Amino acid sequence: MTEEMGSDIRESADAKTYWRSTDCMGLGYGGGVPYYADTVSSIVSLLSPASVFEFGCNSGRNLDLIAKKSELTAVSGIDINEASIKYGVEHYGLDLRVGDELALDDYPDNRWDLVFTISVLDHIPDPVATCTELNRIAGRYLLFCEPCVHGGEGRIDGEHAEGDVSKTAPFSYYHDYYRIFRELSLTRVLDIALPTSCHSVGMSYRLMLCAKGSLVMENLEDLPGTLLAT
Ligand SMILES: C[S@@+](CC[C@H](N)C(=O)[O-])C[C@H]1O[C@@H](n2cnc3c(N)ncnc32)[C@H](O)[C@@H]1O
Repeated sequence: MTEEMGSDIRESADAKTYWRSTDCMGLGYGGGVPYYADTVSSIVSLLSPASVFEFGCNSGRNLDLIAKKSELTAVSGIDINEASIKYGVEHYGLDLRVGDELALDDYPDNRWDLVFTISVLDHIPDPVATCTELNRIAGRYLLFCEPCVHGGEGRIDGEHAEGDVSKTAPFSYYHDYYRIFRELSLTRVLDIALPTSCHSVGMSYRLMLCAKGSLVMENLEDLPGTLLAT
């Protein structure tokens, strides 16, 4: 094993240790549903998936919103943080499991109609293998709401951060999702700015929707943004 590989493995293990034990989210949305969550849940509703899976769901607040807005019962998620999952199961009554990206192996191909992440891949140092697994278990759509900084990749909380993107949670990274999509032959159908907050890295989040076949969507005019492909 090279020194670089050893340090990548250590970085990944340290990131997991941090997120496994960190109460980062609080329990609901606090002061009402934020714009980004409202937008994601509205787009999911327009896509009318038969089932939805969130990787890195924390307590499941996004899934709860989606289930209510889309009147969908087939929603499920996993997260590495046991306390958050326990709260989500008890409070929302959702089908949630404790697990990291390795747990995705348990799901068959195309298990879920739509698979999504919100600010989770940015806490995984190298998300290519995770994206490959998410692509495998997604039947029709993959939706990512993650920070894209200067089209590059690096640590958000480290010395490589640029401009005002400097202070955020430890073990936070930005990745070149367009390169990952190309490697996985994924077609981006929608790509819009979707700030999660109005400061620092929150400003750089984008919603990237990929379709594995043709896009089937009601009320296209309700979409916030222009379709890149159909
Ligand atoms: C910023 S929070 C976002 C939570 C949720 N997606 C939301 O929007 O409310 C990041 C979440 O990713 C989870 N996480 C971090 N690394 C993970 C991993 N390797 N596998 C699964 N979950 C992970 C954390 O426990 C945390 O709940």
